[in-house]
Amino acid sequence: MASLNGVAGVSRIVADNKKTALITGITGQDGSYLTELLLEKEYAVHGVVRRTSNLLRSRIEHLRSDEKVYGKSLFLHYGDLSDGTTLRRIFSEVQPTELYHLAGQSHVGLSFEIPESTCEEIGMATLRLLEIVRDQPQSVKFYHASSSEIFGNAAESPQTELTPLRPASPYGCAKAFATQLARVYRESYGLFVANGILYNHESPRRGENFVTRKIARVVARIARGLEEELLLGNLESRRDWGRAQDYVTAMWLMLQQDKPADYVVATGETHSVRDFVEAAFAVVNLPSKKYVKHNPAFDRPTEPARLVGSPEKIRVELGWRPQGSFTDLVREMVEAELATVDAGKDT
Ligand code: NAP
Ligand code: GDD
Repeated sequence: MASLNGVAGVSRIVADNKKTALITGITGQDGSYLTELLLEKEYAVHGVVRRTSNLLRSRIEHLRSDEKVYGKSLFLHYGDLSDGTTLRRIFSEVQPTELYHLAGQSHVGLSFEIPESTCEEIGMATLRLLEIVRDQPQSVKFYHASSSEIFGNAAESPQTELTPLRPASPYGCAKAFATQLARVYRESYGLFVANGILYNHESPRRGENFVTRKIARVVARIARGLEEELLLGNLESRRDWGRAQDYVTAMWLMLQQDKPADYVVATGETHSVRDFVEAAFAVVNLPSKKYVKHNPAFDRPTEPARLVGSPEKIRVELGWRPQGSFTDLVREMVEAELATVDAGKDT
């Protein structure tokens, strides 16, 4: 089995003229789908992983345990966003041609509780990576995972690439800082940096404390008699929810262009948390009213209003379109949770 670093194969990969991608946040929802996409496209994929007490990295375990993949076209490197020296060393060893910077504390509600580390990981880490990319001898195309949260209490709806930034959380402020820095580095130094301004995107691999996964999981557990209630915060909050698998394709498309630009990636539709709840209970034929309770612990100090994106630019310029409907997404997530419970993996 290949070592975690697995860098021994790097020179061979460069010689094979494969495209080489480096992903921060490879163990996250988006990182895992992006890795699958890039491997399908025959990239050499390198991921930065944090030291954790548990070696299992659930979202990419199927790739890590595949001997045809791990150590051959997929390589993992220990590193942390706070550790510039190590990140720089990884760059020298890997010599990536594309960087997908996805890592960081990604929970908006939690950013009110841990604002300093959130801003450090999202803001300063992006600056650190921009500086490293600026120093590379080869040109590196840089994808930055920006967010609709930069628009916060948006002045207009739907939002476009030109909508003014009015973030409403520490997370949104940090993403706004990183997004603006990415623009400054693009304009000042001619770097290829693209901000993907992504709206919420979901999947069975979504973290369990995001609202869609939480709903899907608890609904499946209620349906199988393992839980009795679903505790939620603001049910009237609305979001523009798409599928994570489509959104990583948008990331890749942005780096295949000759010129860098920023793109909103969204469906253009909004639904409330209540809509999601009702659609999820409908999958298991149960009445939502009986099970849903409000818990103020999940309310946030402020909520962005009217977050809905216009995907017009990415549709026209890159030919990207979201696939599937909102109810398809809810069904996919609930059915995945039912399968997990039925397999005895979530008891
Ligand atoms: P996620 O599932 O929470 O994954 C976050 C990733 O970042 C994980 O791999 C995590 O590693 C890693 N990470 C966090 N802090 C780190 C650190 N200090 N050093 C190294 N790695 C670190 O997030 P996601 O949903 O895939 O989202 C990817 C990116 O897109 C994030 O930047 C998020 O803010 C942004 N975004 C997401 C959405 C969305 O709807 N999903 C929308 C807009 C923007 P561990 O596995 O070790 O925790
Ligand atoms: N997490 C959570 N838990 N949210 C709840 C709950 C609950 O119990 N009850 C209601 N909500 C509401 C939140 O208040 C919010 O309005 C909405 O559900 C969505 O919350 P999340 O799923 O946590 O996502 P988010 O919109 O705050 O942030 C996600 O999308 C952003 C892009 O718009 C994250 O993926 C961010 O990283 C991303 O940038």
